[in-house]
Amino acid sequence: MAREITVDGHRYAAIWLRDNCRCAQCLTPSGQKLFGILDLPADVQVSRESVDGDILDLTFAPDGHRSRFELSWLAAHCTEGRPPFDDRAEDAKTLWGSTAELGVLPEVSWDDYTAASRVRAHCLASLQSVGLFLLHGVPVVEGAVRTVAETFGFVRTTNYGEIFDVRVEPAAANLAYSSLPIAPHTDNPYRDPVPTVQLLHCLTNDAVGGDSGLLDGFAAASALREASPAAFEVLSSTPVTFRYADGTASLSATHPMIGVDPLGRITQIRFNNRSLCPVTLDRAALAEFYAAYRRFAELLARPEAQLAIRLAPGDCLVFDNTRVLHARTGFSESGRRHLQGCYADLDAAFSQLAVLRA
Ligand code: OGA
Ligand code: ZN
Ligand code: ZN
Repeated sequence: MAREITVDGHRYAAIWLRDNCRCAQCLTPSGQKLFGILDLPADVQVSRESVDGDILDLTFAPDGHRSRFELSWLAAHCTEGRPPFDDRAEDAKTLWGSTAELGVLPEVSWDDYTAASRVRAHCLASLQSVGLFLLHGVPVVEGAVRTVAETFGFVRTTNYGEIFDVRVEPAAANLAYSSLPIAPHTDNPYRDPVPTVQLLHCLTNDAVGGDSGLLDGFAAASALREASPAAFEVLSSTPVTFRYADGTASLSATHPMIGVDPLGRITQIRFNNRSLCPVTLDRAALAEFYAAYRRFAELLARPEAQLAIRLAPGDCLVFDNTRVLHARTGFSESGRRHLQGCYADLDAAFSQLAVLRA
C-alpha cells in the first residue's frame, strides 16, 4: 500500500493518479471526466503496480479500481515543481521592450492569409507570442473588419455596435472619434471582461498625422518590476476603477492596472488615462500610487518601445488588447481618416491556432 509511488525518478501521489485515470469508466472518449472528487475514496492508495513496456499498470485500494498509464503521458504531466502553462501569462510570451526586440513585424497579405492555413497559423502564433499581426490588402469596403474577425473567432458586440467607425464626429463623446492624439492605452478597461482582441481596419487615411503606435505592455510591466519592485507591487495590487458613460451606456470595472495571476505572472494590462476614475486611497498610499503610475507611464512613453506604423487603406491591425497598448498621433481635420474596428476574443483565436497546428 502506498500513498505515493515513484516512476522514472518522479513521484506521483495515489490520489493524483486515481483522479487522472484514463480508463473508459473514468473518461469519455473525448477526455471528459465522468466522476467528481467526492466519488473517489478519501484514503485512496496504490495496492499493486507493475510496468509492461510503456504501460504502468496500477490497482488502487480500497476499491480495487485498475488504471493503466502510458509512461510518456505520465512524464508529460509530471507535476513536480512546474507552474501550469497559461497561454495568457507572460512566460508563454515573447516580450518586446523595443521594436528591435520585436524584430520583423508579423505582416502578411490578406490573399495569402485566406489562401493558406499555414499563413493563418503563423499570424495567430504571432498574436499569441508578440501580441499582434498586420494584414495588408484587406478589401477596402465597410464591414470587412468583421470578415477578418470571423476568420479566427467571433465578433464581440458592445455598446459601440458590432463594428465601430473611428472617424471625426461632431461633439464626440469618445475621444477616439475626434482628431486629438490618443496616448498609449488598452481599450475598454471599464468592461469586465475586457474585449481581449481588437481589430482596426483602415479605409481612408489622407490626414496629416493620424499615425499608429503599438507597444508591449507586458514588457513595460516586466521592466517596471525589474527597476522598481515596489512600484510594480503597487500597480498590481491597487484596484482602480475605469468608467465610460454616454447617453446610452454606463460602464465601470475595478481592477489593478497590472493584472497578475496567483503565481505573480503578468496576465493583463489595463491602462487608459481617458477612463480612469478618481482613485480612493489614503494620503500615503495615494502618493505611492501616483509615483508608480507615473513610472509605468514613463516606460510606456519611451519612443524606442513604440512600434510606429502608418496604416494605409486595406491594412488591418489585430492585437491582444490585454497586453498590447495602441496609440495614435493627432491629425488635421482637413484630411479624411476613417478606420473601422471591432472586438473579438483570444480564446477562439488560440483555439483555432491549436486546431491548425494539430
Ligand atoms: C480606438 C483608438 C486609434 C486610432 O478607437 O480605440 O484608439 O488610430 N483609435 O484612431
Ligand atoms: Zn478509471
Ligand atoms: Zn483605442
